[in-house]
Amino acid sequence: MKALAATGDADLIELVRVPDPSPAPGNVLVDVRAFSVNRGELHRLLTAAAGWRPGWDFAGVIADPGPPDAGDLVPGVRVFGIAAGRSWAERVAVPACQAARIPEGLSWEQAAALPTAALTALRTLRIPGDLTGARTRRDPGDLAGAAVLVTGAAGGVGRFAVQLARRAGAKVTAVVGRPERGRELGSLGADEVSVGTRQLAPGFDLILESGGGDSLREALRLVAPRGTVVSFGNSSRSETKLPVSDFYPKEAALRGFYLLNDLATAQTADDLTFLAGLVAAGELTVDLAHTAAWSEARAVLGGLRERSVPGKAVLRVTP
Ligand SMILES: NC(=O)c1ccc[n+]([C@@H]2O[C@H](COP(=O)([O-])OP(=O)(O)OC[C@H]3O[C@@H](n4cnc5c(N)ncnc54)[C@H](OP(=O)(O)O)[C@@H]3O)[C@@H](O)[C@H]2O)c1
Repeated sequence: MKALAATGDADLIELVRVPDPSPAPGNVLVDVRAFSVNRGELHRLLTAAAGWRPGWDFAGVIADPGPPDAGDLVPGVRVFGIAAGRSWAERVAVPACQAARIPEGLSWEQAAALPTAALTALRTLRIPGDLTGARTRRDPGDLAGAAVLVTGAAGGVGRFAVQLARRAGAKVTAVVGRPERGRELGSLGADEVSVGTRQLAPGFDLILESGGGDSLREALRLVAPRGTVVSFGNSSRSETKLPVSDFYPKEAALRGFYLLNDLATAQTADDLTFLAGLVAAGELTVDLAHTAAWSEARAVLGGLRERSVPGKAVLRVTP
């Protein structure tokens, strides 16, 4: 089959021939129709050795359901989900619990855009509820009246986080790098759009922080007493100088998050179903900033690198 693999040089990616995946016990085999491109994959490709195979998100058709307990995931069913890698290919093998049916009305592209970005938004928003034991199983938890700050709000994770936080009752401040990046965020649910954070006053109960470097430092300044900063990315790829004495008197929490740590549970399929249901019901918008054939992968990665993709980039697997 064909797949995208790292070149190990400045080209980053190329289409190559590889053996078909051999599914492990408990895996389903999916014929991939579309996948999305995440910043984390770009970062890994920048240092990957030739031959390394990226790919978390996918949307496609069940080719082989594998285990007898794969439930309704029978051959021909449209599914989407998240692999631990190698989904930028004609076929991918994944644990059945990491795939869910695509509801009626969702396109391949919409479904493929969801897993990594929307699961990250959903699960980071649940963290305050996890810390207090208060969250419900599916929704982000009760954020009614909470002041939530989202950095990187114009990006893939950010747009879902703004919407899901607002839906959970939060007052949402969205941080962008340039004014034009903030244009649609008000209609997605942001109460305030801020270019940078310097002019903001402290008092945020929850901060979803993915910029790293100065952005994380700012988050520790802006968090409210007993609030929570969730650090889940380092888009700036720079180190953070901790403002220690601004931070500890507030008794705030700094919590890390890494989606790939515990994917293989039934909660993943439940969460995917929940998110796709919101999209199908018109309650969650998927901003498809860029869709193209997978032969365009190199150009799409270039756009992501230049911060010119407002939302999700999705590639279609074509013959
Ligand atoms: N821990 C996890 O499990 C996990 C899961 C998913 C994603 N992530 C991480 O979360 C971050 C967001 O992911 P994503 O897929 O949403 O990325 P994305 O679509 O590229 O969005 C990133 C956003 O970050 C902003 N940004 C701020 N400073 C930046 C910088 N120096 N370089 C590049 N972008 C910068 C950009 O804002 P402007 O609009 O202002 O340019 C952009 O909107 C990434 O760092 C990713 O690696 C982590």
